[in-house]
This record gives sequence, structure tokens and C-alpha cells, in this order.
Amino acid sequence: MRITVYLGTGGVGKTSVAAASALAQARAGHKALVLTIDPALRLRTALRLREGVLEQQVDLEPAATGELWAALLDVRATLDEAVHLYAPAALVQPILRHPIYATIADSLVGMQELMAVERIDQLARRGFENLVVDTAPSRHALEFLDKPMFFADLVSSNWVRLVGRTYKFVAGSGLASLGRKSIDFYQRVESILGANLVRQVLDFYSIFVSIAEGYAARAEKTVALLKDPAVTEFRIVTTPQKAQRDARYFVHALEQRRFRAGGLLVNRVWDLPAEGIEAPGLAGEALEWYRAVSRAHRQALDAVQREFGGRLGVIRALPELARDIDGMAALERIAPLVFP
Ligand SMILES: Nc1ncnc2c1ncn2[C@@H]1O[C@H](COP(=O)(O)OP(=O)(O)OP(=O)(O)O)[C@@H](O)[C@H]1O
Ligand SMILES: [Mg+2]
Repeated sequence: MRITVYLGTGGVGKTSVAAASALAQARAGHKALVLTIDPALRLRTALRLREGVLEQQVDLEPAATGELWAALLDVRATLDEAVHLYAPAALVQPILRHPIYATIADSLVGMQELMAVERIDQLARRGFENLVVDTAPSRHALEFLDKPMFFADLVSSNWVRLVGRTYKFVAGSGLASLGRKSIDFYQRVESILGANLVRQVLDFYSIFVSIAEGYAARAEKTVALLKDPAVTEFRIVTTPQKAQRDARYFVHALEQRRFRAGGLLVNRVWDLPAEGIEAPGLAGEALEWYRAVSRAHRQALDAVQREFGGRLGVIRALPELARDIDGMAALERIAPLVFP
């Protein structure tokens, strides 16, 4: 199994580069799947992605020796699938119909990151050998990895287990069976949130606990895959202006967690206009400005090459296209430039 995860700050091209990278793998003969998060509308249309559809194959013209598959990280669909796979049969419908379930997918902070790890596990089970994973823009550290680990630790903690497990017992035998401290705690929470909501939440937790605890075990397994340098490689996407800062930040964050940093893709690099072309007046000024920016991009590339060439495997420049990456034609242009 091989997993390639694309990281980066907002809007640098993670989703586009991840899709191009999966396309490159398909063209190299592999069955590759790109798991994308929130692609721009036209890219979503090009990959024929729809809410609620788990994954689908993308037609390629001309056909590739491998296959390109695409999937949206749909939090609700991933969670539904986990319920079907892991809840005891008798609990599947009570969970799916529970009023709290309808809101949990959207309201739980970090649900997207939690479900990304769950989804990787589901895809691996379905036999996808080459996964390319797009991530949401990371504001602090590697939320994509830190949140699932945190949640796994949390649900396997004794405290949460105790609350989840004792609730059924409490509901059956009344608060009197609990120690004084616990009664105070329940009552305080009830007075803030309302008894009805608290009961619903606890009720939901008590039937959901099997999924949550199973999640912890699966997340640990997936994170172990992500930590295995023979399986997973993390690539940083950035733009020339941000290249040095982003490289320092992400390389440090990856090294700290002992993840394999496999490369840096500097996206949206302007082509340097050929020397000797001159233009009069305003056009000439625009050309000069264009040259100055292009040279600055080259200098930024040289600087990251000097600083990170040794530590980062591959460093590649991807050109600024004349238009957005909005369809298969644009992906085909970028794909050969992304190392497969
Ligand atoms: N090399 C490029 N040339 C031209 N346009 C590009 C290039 N790379 C990305 N874009 C455009 O920039 C926009 C942002 O790209 P994309 O959605 O891939 O970034 P992202 O990092 O995934 O963003 P977010 O952080 O919001 O998820 C899109 O409209 C895309 O078409
Ligand atoms: Mg994106």
C-alpha cells in the first residue's frame, strides 16, 4: 500500500496537485484514488464528484494503463458507513435515526480530520492500494494527524469510558446509585444544557460507544500506516512567496512527529519571459514587472533548494497556468510535472 498526503496552507493548490498526482499514478499504470476535500466547483464537476457518493472512477481520454478514482471526503457518508460496518446490527437504525446523530456530523469540531482517517481505513479495506490524500488548510500544526490521535486517546480514556458505560446503568437505576460527586456533576450539566438534551447526548453516547471505541483502534492502525515511511509520504504544497516559511514550518512539524517528508511542490511559478523581447511604453513596463516577479520566483526556489534540498527528497516547481485548474486538460498538463 502506498499513501501520499498533501499538506499546505490555504489556497496554495493542494486539492489540484493531489488530483494531478493521482492522475500521474494512473498514467504510470496504478489504480489510484484521490480523496479530496472541498474541491472548487469546476474540478468537482471534472472528477464527477457528488455528495453522498463514496467513490467513482474517472474516465480518461486517452485511456490510461492504470485507473483514476476520486472520492469526496463526505463526513456524513463516512460516518454512516462506519455505523453500518461496526455497530451491532440491532443498533444500526437506532443510531442512524437518533436526533443527535443528525447534528453530530456537522457540529463536532474536527470531524473532517477524524473522518479522513476513518475513510483511509475504509478505502484500504476496499482494496485501494494507491491513495492520494488532500487535506484541509492547516492552521496549526498537523491537525489532520493530531486530531484523530487526540480523539483516539480521549475515547479510550478511562474517564470517557466510565461516563459512557455508567450512563445506561444510571438511566436504569436512577441517580441514587451514583456517588455524590457524580450526581452534582450530572445535575450541573443538566442545569446548563437542559435535562432533555443531556439525556439525549448521554443516550446517544451509550449506543455510539461501540463505534467510538472501535474508531480509536482503527485510528491507531491508520496513524501507524501514516507513520510508516515505507507506506506514507507527506508532500508540502506552497507558492513561491510562502515557500521558505511553509517549508520550515511543515518540515519541522513532520520531523517532530517522525513522519516522512517526501517533497515540496512550489506551485504557481511564473515562466520567465525570453530575453530579447522588448515592448514600448506601458507594455514594456508590464513586461519588466513580469520579469521581476519571475526572477523573484526563481530566487525563492533556489533558496528552498539550498536550505531543504538535502532533507526533503524532491523539490519541484509547478507553473502558473493561464487559467484555473478547472478540468481534466489542466490536470493532464500538471500531472507529468508532479513526481508520481
Ligand atoms: N498552477 C496553477 N495555475 C493556475 N491556477 C491554479 C494553479 N494551482 C491552483 N490554481 C487555482 O487556485 C485555486 C486554489 O486551488 P486549490 O483549490 O487546489 O487550492 P487548495 O490549497 O486546495 O485550497 P484550500 O486550502 O481552500 O483547500 C483554484 O481555483 C485552482 O484552480
Ligand atoms: Mg483544497
